[in-house]
Amino acid sequence: MTGSVVVVGAVNVDHVVVADRLPRAGETVVGPAMVRHGGGKGANAAVAAARFGARVLLIGAVGTDDVGDGALAELAESGVDTAHVDRLAGVPTGAALIVVDARGENQIAVGAGANAHVDPDRVRAALRAALPSCGCVLVSTEIPEAAVAAAVEEATGAGVSCVLNPAPVVPVVAGLLRHGPILTPNRGEAGELAPDLATLAERTAAPVVVTLGGDGVRYVLPGQAPVDVAPHPATVVDTTGAGDTFNGVLAARLAAGDPLDRAVRTANVAAALSVSSPGARAGAPTPAEVAAAQR
Ligand code: RIB
Repeated sequence: MTGSVVVVGAVNVDHVVVADRLPRAGETVVGPAMVRHGGGKGANAAVAAARFGARVLLIGAVGTDDVGDGALAELAESGVDTAHVDRLAGVPTGAALIVVDARGENQIAVGAGANAHVDPDRVRAALRAALPSCGCVLVSTEIPEAAVAAAVEEATGAGVSCVLNPAPVVPVVAGLLRHGPILTPNRGEAGELAPDLATLAERTAAPVVVTLGGDGVRYVLPGQAPVDVAPHPATVVDTTGAGDTFNGVLAARLAAGDPLDRAVRTANVAAALSVSSPGARAGAPTPAEVAAAQR
């Protein structure tokens, strides 16, 4: 069964250098070449959800530059509806500078560009039109805090399942917990939001799902003991975007009606498979690939 997902988040172009190791402050490292990939946590998750069979609408912004043209074309080819990705004159499309080391770990700096101008009123309008046929809204935080708030308020206010990926943790997130989004922080982000998971789940009165990289996933429901999901074996080439694949597949499966536990386990395998290819999107798997890996 498939579902309908709305993603609200950033669109970037990633400029990636693979080097033996990540640079320290003030240090230069040299790799063989710079490669460009599609990026941005919102766009990456949208592609992962679409590859997983969901109908996906992305709400965000790019510039009117050539880079924006390319980003939109790539998203459309991936099956993502970009009708609500605004083209903004006078600002560049978002860009990320990424170094990936020999172990697949990364270091990322983002120039927000058009993402910093995603308009909360346009987010609200687009969501109001889309929510009646939407099974899950996925929101990430590389866009203005007012736009993040608009998305979470609209989705939860309409009673639609809302996944909030607080990457990075920005001040508005604390105030949005009372709306009851399903939070999907990584370990560090969870620690920034609350002293422990039980407290965080109490504040949201909703599931909290923590991605632990090579250690799998831990999730907790309010008032219940945490559930640990073991890591799926992975061949690590590039971990960039693994969290985005996790969130996109989680949203796709929740929109399709899966219970949380099944959706988390599927997303956990999908994220593990995603790190075997370079770039943030190329490794996002299909349902058949995840099913084969689970056999
Ligand atoms: O999560 C990975 C993404 O973070 C990259 O694609 C980069 O664009 C940044 O948004």
